Amino acid sequence: MISPQELRTRINRLPRVSLAHLPTPLEELPRLSAALGGPRIFIKRDDCTGLAFGGNKARHNEFILGRALEEGADTLVWGAGIQSNNCRQTAAAAAKLGLECHLVLTTDHAEMEFQGNFLLDHLVGARIELNSEPMGPPLWNKIKEKADSLKSEGRRVFTIADPASRFAASVSYTEALVELRDQLDEQGVRADAVYFSSGGSTGGGMFLGRKLLGWDADLRAIMPIEWPFDTAEYMAKLANGAAELLGLEPAVTLQDIQASPDYIGAGYGIPTPEGMEAISLLARREGILLDPIYTGKAMGALVADIRRGRWRKGQNLVFVHTGGTPALFYHHRDLARIFDTAGREG
Ligand SMILES: Cc1ncc(COP(=O)(O)O)c(C=O)c1O
Repeated sequence: MISPQELRTRINRLPRVSLAHLPTPLEELPRLSAALGGPRIFIKRDDCTGLAFGGNKARHNEFILGRALEEGADTLVWGAGIQSNNCRQTAAAAAKLGLECHLVLTTDHAEMEFQGNFLLDHLVGARIELNSEPMGPPLWNKIKEKADSLKSEGRRVFTIADPASRFAASVSYTEALVELRDQLDEQGVRADAVYFSSGGSTGGGMFLGRKLLGWDADLRAIMPIEWPFDTAEYMAKLANGAAELLGLEPAVTLQDIQASPDYIGAGYGIPTPEGMEAISLLARREGILLDPIYTGKAMGALVADIRRGRWRKGQNLVFVHTGGTPALFYHHRDLARIFDTAGREG
């Protein structure tokens, strides 16, 4: 175990560039708690990190792009799904930092439509290449190919396909966990559980922070995607890669990771009824917007656990809102289906 101060000192030694509005607020959701008749619920507003609608990648990119600038990069090569929040936030950061940004995006699970994140990618000036590769290693290979081809033209490339980028991203969520702990202490709240959407770096960093601080809160990563490899092992690897960047021994084992595939539904990028209900509930009870692919599904898990009696009055839950709201506009048809024409819930 190490102290929050020591952890912060180690984090502060890493290369970093300022992109996010930090610390993000920690707010209580009394009308959501009342609707569910259960525990107190708090929300950590990482949707409010700023920079082109915010989200968890603004934190990630402080450390990833800090490394890129230190290495003298002039070009970023990123990639993911066509409605990727990661790519939108990275392209915006590239615009701010004066870097050229190439995005390799797949239409594997979503249509090519100038909406949501894809629209914003264009607006902030990204250079875009489309394919229909499956998410995960096949797409990562395409990103690497693009990076290699730009390198061969003499560009100084930094790419998300480099595993070190993902370790740096995880460090940012180790820091977010320390920030959250401090805010809970200030508000005199002892958290029983923390829910968040993650299939990788965000969870890796959070589980590392929990282990290093010896925190007893139950951390639950709700997976948005089923990878063709073991997600818990992947998160443990990311956590330990982050530990190494911080000059610490590997600390996280598989037993420390709790990652649930139970709320993915039909697949990555496909909204679920529970997720859509959670979006509507939070919007109508608290005026806070979630997205259908990540945070709606994670909030759906929290709501389901309260309804099945896992959490009771007198306990405290935290939901980490990791962003993703521009995707609401791409999913306007799915959203319209849950309302009648007068805007009432159908
Ligand atoms: C809104 C949102 N939440 C959560 C995640 C998951 O983040 P990670 O891949 O770091 O686990 C993403 C990833 O793109 C996201 O866009």
